[in-house]
Amino acid sequence: MTDRVFVTRPIPEAGLAELRKVAEVVVRDAPMPPTRDELIAGLRGATGLISLVTDPVDAGVLESAGDLRAVSNFAVGFNNIDVAAATRLGIAVGNTPDVLTDATADCTLMLLLAAARCLRPGLEDVAAGRWRTWEPMGYLGQELAGKTLGIVGLGRIGSAVARRCRGGWGMNILYHNPRPLPDDERELGARFVDLPTLLAESDFVSLHCPATATNRGMIGREQLRRMKPTAVLINAARGSLVDEAALVEACRAGWIFAAGIDVTDPEPPAPESPLLREPNIVVAPHVGSATVVARTAMAARASANVMAALIGQAMPYPVNPGVVLRGGN
Ligand code: DGY
Repeated sequence: MTDRVFVTRPIPEAGLAELRKVAEVVVRDAPMPPTRDELIAGLRGATGLISLVTDPVDAGVLESAGDLRAVSNFAVGFNNIDVAAATRLGIAVGNTPDVLTDATADCTLMLLLAAARCLRPGLEDVAAGRWRTWEPMGYLGQELAGKTLGIVGLGRIGSAVARRCRGGWGMNILYHNPRPLPDDERELGARFVDLPTLLAESDFVSLHCPATATNRGMIGREQLRRMKPTAVLINAARGSLVDEAALVEACRAGWIFAAGIDVTDPEPPAPESPLLREPNIVVAPHVGSATVVARTAMAARASANVMAALIGQAMPYPVNPGVVLRGGN
């Protein structure tokens, strides 16, 4: 029987070429994510799934898909997938690490500079025709050179951001992680600190940890109050890490200088969300990995994961390594 792989939305075709040689690939041609019912229907008879961060692949969805052997997320994060349920059901889960590291680190710097240099009010004034003259006292932002960057989650993306800031602006690096990383400390001159110290001492705080069941709202009122009034908070990881009401309050009240966020919770924010009204909060539409190179490579990695699992082999980029795959080849 030919394998059938359901892809929930169009992704770069170049990355699907190899997969198309060995399986029937059904790409759902729609601009919006599937509803849960559409996802369940799409998985009927499918042995593989390429899912996106916008697709909740919960236990019920997985249980409904009796032939499914592989779920490959077109992302490095996989908080949209119930990995425990997949493992219990003998379904391999994979992701696409490494190939989006540079793109996401660049996006982090884009947000950091935009927030630090008051880009949002400036752009809005220009677009609205309010820009009347060179402003000696207007749009005054923060400089980066020699400042302190605090990285929460010094993984692949966090250390790529730290490397850029260290090399480009001679910044001092603090980090907070589940455990110290001596190699990174040597390379980046980074110092391992607890979260309260990082928040109090950093001029820029950048979040790079995965969303888990326990870190929702890890940056809330209490944490924001610890930060410097000149500090900038960047979140290019997951929206759930930040208490958005507290962030609005912090930016409005001047507890911190500004914020740049590529992720919100939910995505997109409601049109009436105060997040969208604060001039010192730059909000991007979850574009960390949105480069041609990164997205094409993500498609190739997502395909490679599915191809491996469909022939009973370990995925090259596994999330649940060692899973005992259901069914035969
Ligand atoms: C990821 O990979 O987890 C991003 O959030 C989507 O590219």
